[in-house]
Amino acid sequence: MSSLSEGMKRLIEPLSFIIIVLSISIAFAGEKIGGSQDKKFGYDYLNPNIPVDKRVEDLLSRMSLAEKIGQMCQYNAGMKNAGQLARDGSVGSFLNVTDPGEIERLQHAAVRDSRLGIPILFGLDVIHGYSTIFPIPIAWASTWNPEIVRESAEVSAKEACSQGVRWTFSPMVDIARDPRWGRIAEGAGEDVYLGMAMANALVEGYQGRKLGPESRLVACAKHYVAYGAAAGGRDYNSAEVSERTLREVYLPPFKAAVDAGAGTIMSAFEDLNGVPATANSFTIRDILKGEWPFKGFVVSDWDAVTELINHGVACDSAEAVMKAVIAGVDMDMVGPYHDHLEVLVREGKIPIEPVNDAVRRILRIKFEIGLFEHPYPDPAMAKSGLMLPEYRKVSREAAREAIVLLKNDRNILPLSRNIESIAVIGPLADSKPDMLGCWPCQGKPAPVVTLLAGIKSAASPQTKVMYAEGCGVRDTSRSGFAEAIVAAKESDVVVIAVGERAEMTGEAESRSSLDLPGVQEDLVKAIVATGKPVVEILMNGRPLSINWSAEHLPAILETWFLGTEAGNAIADVLFGNYNPSGKLPVTFPRSVGQVPIFYNHMNTGRPPSAERFTSRYTDIPWTPLFSFGYGLSYTKFGFSELNVIPDPGVKDRFLVTVDVTNEGKRDGIETVQLYIRQDCASVARPVKQLAGFRRVELAAGETKTVSFILTPYDLSFINAGMERVVESGPLEVMAGGSSVDLISKSTVIEKSMPVAEKVPIY
Ligand code: NOJ
Repeated sequence: MSSLSEGMKRLIEPLSFIIIVLSISIAFAGEKIGGSQDKKFGYDYLNPNIPVDKRVEDLLSRMSLAEKIGQMCQYNAGMKNAGQLARDGSVGSFLNVTDPGEIERLQHAAVRDSRLGIPILFGLDVIHGYSTIFPIPIAWASTWNPEIVRESAEVSAKEACSQGVRWTFSPMVDIARDPRWGRIAEGAGEDVYLGMAMANALVEGYQGRKLGPESRLVACAKHYVAYGAAAGGRDYNSAEVSERTLREVYLPPFKAAVDAGAGTIMSAFEDLNGVPATANSFTIRDILKGEWPFKGFVVSDWDAVTELINHGVACDSAEAVMKAVIAGVDMDMVGPYHDHLEVLVREGKIPIEPVNDAVRRILRIKFEIGLFEHPYPDPAMAKSGLMLPEYRKVSREAAREAIVLLKNDRNILPLSRNIESIAVIGPLADSKPDMLGCWPCQGKPAPVVTLLAGIKSAASPQTKVMYAEGCGVRDTSRSGFAEAIVAAKESDVVVIAVGERAEMTGEAESRSSLDLPGVQEDLVKAIVATGKPVVEILMNGRPLSINWSAEHLPAILETWFLGTEAGNAIADVLFGNYNPSGKLPVTFPRSVGQVPIFYNHMNTGRPPSAERFTSRYTDIPWTPLFSFGYGLSYTKFGFSELNVIPDPGVKDRFLVTVDVTNEGKRDGIETVQLYIRQDCASVARPVKQLAGFRRVELAAGETKTVSFILTPYDLSFINAGMERVVESGPLEVMAGGSSVDLISKSTVIEKSMPVAEKVPIY
């Protein structure tokens, strides 16, 4: 080179600099797209044709600590530096980003511009619909129809996925025995068996039969665990639950969700027996990931990691991070993982294993749903994938199935379509936003059909439909009563819609009273005083103690919040186009003083009776206003011929058959409910416990024989040693159309044996 002229050197030096820069950037680009092990896909993790576990291991081996921690962090929408976080590989998930364009932009930054190109999982609370809104979950459960619930969830998944959302924070599978708790609206009510069936249906609706590339949404069963047992029904409050009750009541719906393939679980806010759910190794590491074992990932609830400081189990947010990671919380929802985790690992305060385990779980879900292959929303679907007529049809179907007929004296319902005049009264009769319920996601009020609109379109054109609001839901003023009374007096029948505002239900909406808010009950009384027949339409997110109405009104429909098609669905029932079939998934107390009140209580040593010194109240009856499983029809059903036959081939399995007859003059649907009771056990057992149900369509006068298989799991319970077992001894089997008025048959369980925690498929 020394022989080169100065001129040549001047030429070559910049050239070699350019060559070096070029080769570095080629190498770097190679790193970015994954090198060249496989000509077509680059590194193994980009190859969709190899097993997911191998892809996970390959990707994990290439990740820096910072990139691993990035996957464990979930950020909320609207962050100024969101694009940069994505480019840096510092974010595993965003929640609440709903604009498909924004999802595309952020995903682009992650997939094209970050070193390893790991796509982001976009999550959202798609709770009971995305744009087309379905009945709130407690109403879904009132259908007792897992199939319509599964179908509704599938529609929600189609809509959400069309906009680029691939993860929903649903289903809420918390058993709720306290109507003061506002979040009772978000779950399937008080029963374990029904709760498991709904958990299964929702997970399957969102994800399909198996989590895979066809899954539009990843489900998230929440809030793990016993969040519904908050003391006093006060949201976020502590829960004291024995391990036996935990395993028998609060855990099984989560197990059902896991067995249905739920990809994720959200840990709860509360402290459980003194240990916050977000730092609870026993429930997360030992039970969920150990005993079951759950293969997906656990996300915290909103900033719940930081809240460990308030709980008093962490002195600062670094300690909170340490406790949550060690307990097994894999992803941190808007919390402090990104601030501390790297230092904690570098300083050896957190071993790398839980971090690797968390990242593996998160990556596995992303690979399984094909996010690496299809990271972007489909632009055509993003434009046209919402509120299709067939989606609204499913919503209307689900809504009318969710309506529970609580009372119908003198068969005042159904109304004739040709009735001359109807007064539609009440603060909820024409309120579009309220029909969407809590967690309305992207549902907008404009397309909602209110009760007033539904009645107008279902009644004959000659029917005069009058409307008066009467009062607001929480009003103390009676100034609107006069107008409502005039409308009532001019009508042949009054339909009055009362209850709660949607925003009074759901998260952080605990109430100490279960009465109708404001002056609504006074409005009902004033309208009844006109002497006109009055049909009450309840719209609410929790059981309400409507004692006065139950005593004085001839007809009451529980409609909860029914979603986009609310008004049409209620009109379908009011005019008899649909014969009501809903059943209560939760007990209605007479008074808040009875809470907690649920049908599957223990017998106690002194079962309640009219006698003194028994388990009762001195001022009100101990029985509820309306029982679990209760719901009338425009026809009447009778039960007979209950048979319980032990399976000759399998121990502790029974075939149960029962005849159900439609004794009325209208076709109808009855939900046949099967209950069991076992006395003489090693631990006290409930007075009855749901062990099966089946919706049956019956033409007028028709009888059908309905059969059930009682499996060892159905008969099992948790013994004092915390094992799931079947115990030999006498068994009472009961069947009927609600949890009361049952016919029964006795049999004997012959063999005691342990039972696996594997939930049967519904
Ligand atoms: C808090 C709620 O408890 C939870 O149910 C919800 O999914 C998250 N916030 C995200 O919105």
